[in-house]
Amino acid sequence: MPRRPRSSVWYDGVENLPHRVYLRAIGFKDNDFKKPLVAVVPAWSEAGPCNFHTLQLSLKAKEGVREAGGAPLTVPTIVVNDGINMGTDGMRYSLISRELIADTIEAQVNSHGFDAWIGIGGCDKTQPGIIMAMARLDMPSIYIYGGTAEAGILDGTTVTVQEAFEAVGAYIRGVLSERKLRLIEAQAMPTYGTCQGLFTANTMAILAEAMGVSPLGSATPPATSAERGRYVSLAGSLVLDMLERGITARSIITYEALRNAATTLMAIAGSTNGILHLLAIAREAGVKFTLDDIDEVSRRVPVIAAMKPGGPFTMQDLHKVGGAPVILKKLLEAGLLDPDPITVEGESIGKLLSRYDANGVGEVVRSVDNPFKPHAGIRILRGNLAPKGAVMKIGASGRLAFRGQAKVYDSERSAFNAIKNGEVTPGSVVVIRYVGPKGAPGMPEMLKVTAAIVGAGMGDTVAMVTDGRFSGATRGIMVGHVAPEAAVGGPIALVEDGDEIEIDGARGVIRLLVNEDELDKRRGRWSPPPPPPQGLLRKYSMLVSQASEGATTS
Ligand code: FES
Repeated sequence: MPRRPRSSVWYDGVENLPHRVYLRAIGFKDNDFKKPLVAVVPAWSEAGPCNFHTLQLSLKAKEGVREAGGAPLTVPTIVVNDGINMGTDGMRYSLISRELIADTIEAQVNSHGFDAWIGIGGCDKTQPGIIMAMARLDMPSIYIYGGTAEAGILDGTTVTVQEAFEAVGAYIRGVLSERKLRLIEAQAMPTYGTCQGLFTANTMAILAEAMGVSPLGSATPPATSAERGRYVSLAGSLVLDMLERGITARSIITYEALRNAATTLMAIAGSTNGILHLLAIAREAGVKFTLDDIDEVSRRVPVIAAMKPGGPFTMQDLHKVGGAPVILKKLLEAGLLDPDPITVEGESIGKLLSRYDANGVGEVVRSVDNPFKPHAGIRILRGNLAPKGAVMKIGASGRLAFRGQAKVYDSERSAFNAIKNGEVTPGSVVVIRYVGPKGAPGMPEMLKVTAAIVGAGMGDTVAMVTDGRFSGATRGIMVGHVAPEAAVGGPIALVEDGDEIEIDGARGVIRLLVNEDELDKRRGRWSPPPPPPQGLLRKYSMLVSQASEGATTS
């Protein structure tokens, strides 16, 4: 590949003199116009801890690009903070922001003639947004994670944002004192960086390594560590090497690489959001990778990492025992990981992993033949309640089957209030609908509700079914991503209070136990809700696909 495949078109020759004027105005010299032009794209915002420091990291990335002979320019993209908008109307913008991030990167990279680019992410949607843009643009490009926050310590035990969310339910229930509540608030996140457990952000960072779009070992160093700077700096030389060798994103994001990522998602019992994002990335890459592929993987991969919310350990604990490569190596040794896909480091993942030792890492990561849990933490369900699929998150008890009576809510807030008021009792299936990609719109996460269920001590006796999403911090018997969603007339729109619902993760089934004649009558009475009147929510609701297809607008 030529060293300047695109920037030469934008900036060389007499006809492009005016374009050079603009870059000379910001300090470019003759020599800079002979170098590959590299975009450094931090998803940056001070409105939350997750991406608070990515602008700083972008300076290090620029240093790395310069040292490797490139000319870097920073072009930031946006961030929506999922923790802060959780349980509010703002959460509707979370998944939408993933599309905006991919779109803004496309617009900036394609407008200015960049030859290669580096994305730096943090909070949940910034990562898939950046990786989707990598797949879409198919250029030499690398994703680097901004890192996780350090965990807090309270009374000798680890506290994270998960405890903060669940403390609300426990306080309301009267089993947590106000003093302890305030201490949790003060201690839950002592530094900037992302949420500390294996929630969506840390899940996606590990999957980025498994997929090969990030250097091995780069997911787990904390946001505050010096290693962060070293990885973004390394990205500078790696991306220019990719440019030299003609390695582009789609030669990395293949079916096999996506399958490796799905395998890893199951092995770590990662966030269910990972499924949505892998489907979306596959769509951008033009790879046929579906819920069926994920279903097949989920049936043969055990959980080998004991991380929050399913286990006791944080991302920092995983880092101390060797990081994501330890997990990947154990999967490779068990024949569950394909060794052949190449990564942004220019070598196959199998070859790179041959340099790592995964022995003797203790309880954080176990081997495949002595797993933390014998089954994956996620199951794909289908049935008359979700003909196009749904995603089940298996709770801490490992319970795979549940049968109960529906309690139906058309918003997260009404469900939360019902739990708070004691209206939801053991044996209920809480159904929250019209919160799907089109319906909400934006498919918000239901962490407030799931945390309230767990906080009220009903984590193993109440199930939840929704066409919305879960947070990675969610635990309990949870079924989300129900497709088709209520807003397009999916069967979830027909559920009524008291209906019996059967969930069977072992068989991959979810059923509404109401006869077809009755469902037909209800269908005849149903009408679609109006779309939002204007703005981004309206545009998104008109374009977005169903959760079973990744909920993308591409
Ligand atoms: Fe950003 Fe949790 S709120 S990673």
